[in-house]
Amino acid sequence: MTSNETVGNTRWHIKNVRILDPFTATDAMGDVFIVDGRFAAGPVQGMTVIEGQGLWAVPRMTDIHVHFREPGQEHKEDLLSGSRAAAAGGFTVVAAMPNTSPVIDSAALVAWERNRAREIGLVELWPMGAVTKGSAGQELAELGLMEEAGAMGFSDDGKPVANARMMRSALSYVSMLGHPIVQHAEDLSLSEGTVMHEGAISHQLGLSGAPAAAESVMVWRDVELSILTSGPLHVAHVTAIGSLEALEYAARRGAPVTAEATPHHLLLTDSAVSDWNSSPISKVNPPLRPTTHRAALRQAVASGLVSVIASDHAPHHMDEKAAPFPQAPYGISGLETSVGAVFTALLHSGLMDPLTLLARMTVGPHRALRAHYPGLVQGAAADLTLIDPHASWIVDSRAFYSQGHNTPMDGMQLKGRAVGTMLRGVWTMREGQVLA
Ligand code: DOR
Repeated sequence: MTSNETVGNTRWHIKNVRILDPFTATDAMGDVFIVDGRFAAGPVQGMTVIEGQGLWAVPRMTDIHVHFREPGQEHKEDLLSGSRAAAAGGFTVVAAMPNTSPVIDSAALVAWERNRAREIGLVELWPMGAVTKGSAGQELAELGLMEEAGAMGFSDDGKPVANARMMRSALSYVSMLGHPIVQHAEDLSLSEGTVMHEGAISHQLGLSGAPAAAESVMVWRDVELSILTSGPLHVAHVTAIGSLEALEYAARRGAPVTAEATPHHLLLTDSAVSDWNSSPISKVNPPLRPTTHRAALRQAVASGLVSVIASDHAPHHMDEKAAPFPQAPYGISGLETSVGAVFTALLHSGLMDPLTLLARMTVGPHRALRAHYPGLVQGAAADLTLIDPHASWIVDSRAFYSQGHNTPMDGMQLKGRAVGTMLRGVWTMREGQVLA
């Protein structure tokens, strides 16, 4: 990327890019024009020209599953460091999970979080409200009021809505609202006390494992409840073959069910746990699975059965992740490796074409949370990411903008990287540097 820009320029002409816009199903070479925060049809006076040869221009890269930890756990991440990580990773929209301290379970907290992210101005943040008060599973939170305040969905993520009657009530409620219940599907009675996937590697390492069924039995249950109530359900971080079969069943029944997969479950397997000598760096929930599950998950993302890729960006402090495997918290810091990981796993492997893959990171997330965006068209908010699809790079987690440096991708070679991110016509990242 070269430029002759002047400070404060709000008019951009990005030349010779491959425009990949899943919102309008466009894949074409061309130029992108931006005037005062919006896409324009053609050049006007005073534009700064950027040469984009070799780059892809993608509108509205969206990650609907991140943990930004503020309020309450700012030693792991806060809204500023999380926003920077999003911009560095190429994202213009993120949905932040409510398992903060306190839990985001009221309209006031939803409004506070959204406003704070707006003040920072590096990413559009969609707040997720808790399903139950304090995510304690006992009493439904004020879903309607939170939605009025800007909540784009509801989740007790980090743990499931365990009680089936509570889940039924929540789904009935959202059948009358605009946004879905996002379920962390895990039957705790099957997974309690376990720390990784149950299989050959857990046996070898002597770590207690949970069967894949700990996830899939709850996905089946929730699909049935979505059919019963017509309530929109989005299944977070699916990993198990049985869960994918439940999603097929939901599709056959015409149920309003969507699902997401994470870059780490698409790229890695449970052998990462032994490769990292049982370091908790690869401890994540749901756990990394063997190749059979990963292959099925890749196919499901390719076919669109799983229509969303989301990072489950879960930063933790180094000291917490330095604990022995059983005691360490679950989570991988994922925003800054997302594009590289999914391009490596799905694009450069030949499994998916660029437009279909990018749909899982743009229009798929919008549909899942029932949000609207017209795409790279005249007058739309200029939320744009420039991607170098062939950039080969080695992950160095110390260089992350996130405060969370925990990733088993550290040291791996990935291919594909965001090199520019623009939010409403203003660069938030260029050439890897996040701008103030
Ligand atoms: O690995 C995870 N980390 N999975 C979750 O569901 C929660 C998340 C967190 O909040 O750290």
